[in-house]
Amino acid sequence: MTRLETRVGRLRLKNPVIAAAGEHMIDAAGIRSAILAGAGAVVGKSTNESEAAKDQLTRAEYVALDPDWRPVTWGADAPRATVLTRSGLTPLPFDAWLAQCVEMDAFAGLHDCLYVPSLILAAPGPAVEMARAVQAAGLRVLEFNIGTPYASQAATGAVSTELSPDRVGDLTRMMVQAVDIPVWVKITGQSERVPDLAAAAFAAGAESVVMAGRALGMLPDLDTMAPMLGTSCGIGGWWNLPLTCHWLATTRAALGPGPSLIGINGATNGEDVARMLLAGASAVGLSSEVMLRGWPVLTEAVAELDRYCTAKNLTAADLVGRAGDARKRFADMPKLDDHWRNFIPAPSDAALTETTT
Ligand SMILES: Cc1cc2nc3c(=O)[nH]c(=O)nc-3n(C[C@H](O)[C@H](O)[C@H](O)COP(=O)(O)O)c2cc1C
Repeated sequence: MTRLETRVGRLRLKNPVIAAAGEHMIDAAGIRSAILAGAGAVVGKSTNESEAAKDQLTRAEYVALDPDWRPVTWGADAPRATVLTRSGLTPLPFDAWLAQCVEMDAFAGLHDCLYVPSLILAAPGPAVEMARAVQAAGLRVLEFNIGTPYASQAATGAVSTELSPDRVGDLTRMMVQAVDIPVWVKITGQSERVPDLAAAAFAAGAESVVMAGRALGMLPDLDTMAPMLGTSCGIGGWWNLPLTCHWLATTRAALGPGPSLIGINGATNGEDVARMLLAGASAVGLSSEVMLRGWPVLTEAVAELDRYCTAKNLTAADLVGRAGDARKRFADMPKLDDHWRNFIPAPSDAALTETTT
């Protein structure tokens, strides 16, 4: 294996940096840009049979926020950003979407990249039919997203946020029985049971679990006194990285090192990719940072990960799970006695002079 190579189930990636789905993955030129930027895999914008989900793209809105929650100009020069969005699905009819996937898969193959078509669950029957069509078209893998943040806010039945392990198991089994190609199941992060959801997906035959989808958030605008962008929205940013790493490490602790996990939500650069690998991911998706700042984010993430691995004299595969496996429980930690006192403010003068005695 070369230094950055990794495996996700039975598939090999030239590096663990995945260009994850978003609006920048709607047009073929965008997908080609991500492939040419050097990503190990590229996930195209998702589809399903719901017209409401397509319609939602025409009502989509996006804002990047600075650390004080103030909107900043969208683009490469934005400061470290939280991204608040209300997204929709690809505008392409299914046949055109599938034809684009086939073309993108061929282009990706020329660059040793894996093209990943993505379905978002609306209703089970049509999802299975579309999955069969994806396989029949010769695509190498399928991502099945059953954990979008938006189900409670979007039109009924447009997208899904599955929260029950039983349901995740049933839906995964349905897909895995329908196709022979590897199925990557993308699950919600809006649950305290992310490892249980992952366990259910693997038990039902998922080849990988992508963890975890973004959260919903609502941000009051101080000027208008209304919610920013008018609704609750999907929210994500660099600050979500430790939450993702926690889920990766906890899932690895529960399931062992065998299952391939894909980390997503909060990675912004190559060092973040390394962090998610160390937590337990075999590959890592980046979406909003690329949509915000452009394709060089991917090129630089691969280069930065390579520099990190070189400095540590380790391969990317060597990193997987190292921090997750070193994680201890609170009671295993040494006693530090009054250490906590170093982390509280000094009492106010008034509190020292004004006593009850
Ligand atoms: C504007 C936008 C559109 C998205 N569209 C999709 C999509 O079509 N399918 C999907 O599975 N995930 C979609 N996502 C989720 C991302 O792929 C990713 O899971 C999420 O943004 C967290 O990763 P990040 O912190 O790298 O952005 C979208 C995210 C954003 C911000």
